[in-house]
Amino acid sequence: MNTPAPQKPLRPRRSCLAVPGSNPRFLEKAQGLPADMVFLDLEDACAPLAKEGARHLVVDALNNGDWTGKTTAVRVNDWTTHWTYRDVVTVVEGAGPNLDCIMLPKVQDAQQVVALDLLLTQIEKTMGFEVGRIGIEAQIENAKGLVNVDEIAAASPRIETLIFGPADFMASINMRSLVVGEQPPGYPADAYHYILMRILMAARALDVQAIDGPYLQIKNIDGYKEIARRSAALGFDGKWVLHPGQVDAANEVFSPSQEEYDHAELILDAYDWCTSEAGGKKGSAMLGDEMIDEASRKMALVIAGKGRAAGLTRTSKFEIPEA
Ligand code: GLV
Ligand code: MG
Repeated sequence: MNTPAPQKPLRPRRSCLAVPGSNPRFLEKAQGLPADMVFLDLEDACAPLAKEGARHLVVDALNNGDWTGKTTAVRVNDWTTHWTYRDVVTVVEGAGPNLDCIMLPKVQDAQQVVALDLLLTQIEKTMGFEVGRIGIEAQIENAKGLVNVDEIAAASPRIETLIFGPADFMASINMRSLVVGEQPPGYPADAYHYILMRILMAARALDVQAIDGPYLQIKNIDGYKEIARRSAALGFDGKWVLHPGQVDAANEVFSPSQEEYDHAELILDAYDWCTSEAGGKKGSAMLGDEMIDEASRKMALVIAGKGRAAGLTRTSKFEIPEA
């Protein structure tokens, strides 16, 4: 029999806010925004000459800022650059206890995750930090990463998320569009369906979260919501936000509506009732016109869990059906 894997912390990540690590004003402002998760970026939002200084700004912001209620991560540079090890060493030695995850961009294979895992373990041991506490978020941003996504998800127990990086991905596969996340003109269906589903399956098989990446037209909130609804409908847990204006949109789209939440809680109550002694120990029941069973309960648990995590409260009560 397999040894059960250690329980991963389940963190809300409806909205994942990108904050350039080289900008003290943004590092300050991010702390007051209602994003579930923030990542301080040392990669593409940081110019090469600003990266060294940004490492220290990020350490200072993590240690002296107020990130209460938020999951914190730092995005380091990818392993094909010469910056990665110093990003990790400086940030984790300097602010490890105030950091939940390291985000690794452009992950191409399992070895890149293993390399980060080993480095984190050495730093944690050297510094006397709890070994294995810091998670890894892996960005899938090119064809090689997608082809290897199952091995990447399984490469370390530290993996908490798989993240779709549409901008780099579109460039990597020569997709003919310059508008990140938008459909390429001339293609009659959803050009992202396969990619999103591939990432989602790898994530669900390993019990990690699936996160959708950025939408760069930051003034177009309707456009943001439309794209976010696509991945939310499939089952993704959240999406990046690049601007304060996108935070509420992400929190809204990745939370169930009040109606969906109430419905899910009613299904759970109805199932509990019908399977109970008093309810006749039945395996299925009617809720209004709808037949529910164990599979309905599992689906309802997902929606109810998301609603509870989003702070929703019930507005309807289960009535015991008349015999
Ligand atoms: C994010 O990193 C992206 O490339 O879309
Ligand atoms: Mg990218």
